[in-house]
Amino acid sequence: MGAGPVPIPQAVAQANGMIINHLGPTMDRVIKNVKQMAAYAFQTRSDKVLGLAGPASAAMEMAVANLCWPGRRVLCLSNGTFSGRLGEMAQGVGAEVTMLEASPGKPISLAQVRDAFARAGRYDVVTMAHGETSCGVKTVDLPEICKFAKEQGALTIVDTVVTLTAMPVSMDEWGIDVGLTGGQKALSSIPGVSLIAFSADAWRTVEKHPTPFPHWCYDALRAQRFWGEQQYHYTAPVPGVLALHEALRLVAEETLEKRFRRHEMSSLALQAGLEAMGLSLYAPPEIRLNSVIAVRLPDNVDSARVREYMTKAFRVEISGAFGLNIVRIGQMGEQCRSHNLFKTLYALGMSFAREGAKLDVASGMAALESGLAGDREEFVD
Ligand SMILES: Cc1ncc(COP(=O)(O)O)c(C=O)c1O
Repeated sequence: MGAGPVPIPQAVAQANGMIINHLGPTMDRVIKNVKQMAAYAFQTRSDKVLGLAGPASAAMEMAVANLCWPGRRVLCLSNGTFSGRLGEMAQGVGAEVTMLEASPGKPISLAQVRDAFARAGRYDVVTMAHGETSCGVKTVDLPEICKFAKEQGALTIVDTVVTLTAMPVSMDEWGIDVGLTGGQKALSSIPGVSLIAFSADAWRTVEKHPTPFPHWCYDALRAQRFWGEQQYHYTAPVPGVLALHEALRLVAEETLEKRFRRHEMSSLALQAGLEAMGLSLYAPPEIRLNSVIAVRLPDNVDSARVREYMTKAFRVEISGAFGLNIVRIGQMGEQCRSHNLFKTLYALGMSFAREGAKLDVASGMAALESGLAGDREEFVD
């Protein structure tokens, strides 16, 4: 029940146990389906939707390496580990990078982006994370920031690792130029096979990248040979692609609308339970990310010790943090099922109480129960 990798459905695990010819007719059909279903997930009509072997960071690297190079000006909206990583990657490929740092626990706002453009005059690329996993904060102005960037002639790279299929992401409507995600978070597939989608504007820039391209695997034009023309690029991670196919099929079967609702109801009920128990959440509701809930550690509760106890006594794992005094609970995919919610909240309450935190576990459980009431059907797998 941590911030990922998240548990996967049985059907995804089964698909991940198969090998087929990576260049045969069955694989061609699988790839076509993955592209179509991924386009649905990203809400895009673009056909430049590619999968790649590698974690979400590899998809970030592909996005950055294809749009940024020496002489290109990049604005990185940084409010934590992952949004900041995009800027570090852009520096790595020699772009001129401005890091726009948020105040702690806050997302970057449209007003801050406008100011940054006013100061600099021009940026070619703006990077951001829709959901910043390290602190459980979402970039609420994201659609407006993407629209503004487009008006200014800049391309946007958006990390949707913890948001795609957990909450609305509308690539075409919002004007996102590159959307990317890993398999192991909201999609509920395996780590190691990721997805990336390019808009027509972004693809024109990909085609203008100076040659020779510094990477083989992350070269979008070479990758398009496999994902667009069924030609060899490198040996595809076949079981991982099959797992991704199954995960996306389950998303399509559930429909985005119902999946968003399940995620939202589940997370809000869990948040209500945590608060009713006496715990405090790190992000205020208006910027809170539902898919990763950051919970402040009460005084004297040691993160590593309490999590170790939870795992041993209750077999429930949650995540620690990168420097902040919080623990993080995942609300992605299978984590948003009622049996997981009750088990997690009880395990957390009892473990924190054992460390000396003054909590009302019963009230927390009751608040979770009433938060889910009326929608039980949606939470039972
Ligand atoms: C928002 C976000 N982006 C990128 C990543 C990087 O993912 P990976 O570790 O799969 O490379 C993570 C991982 O936690 C993440 O939460």
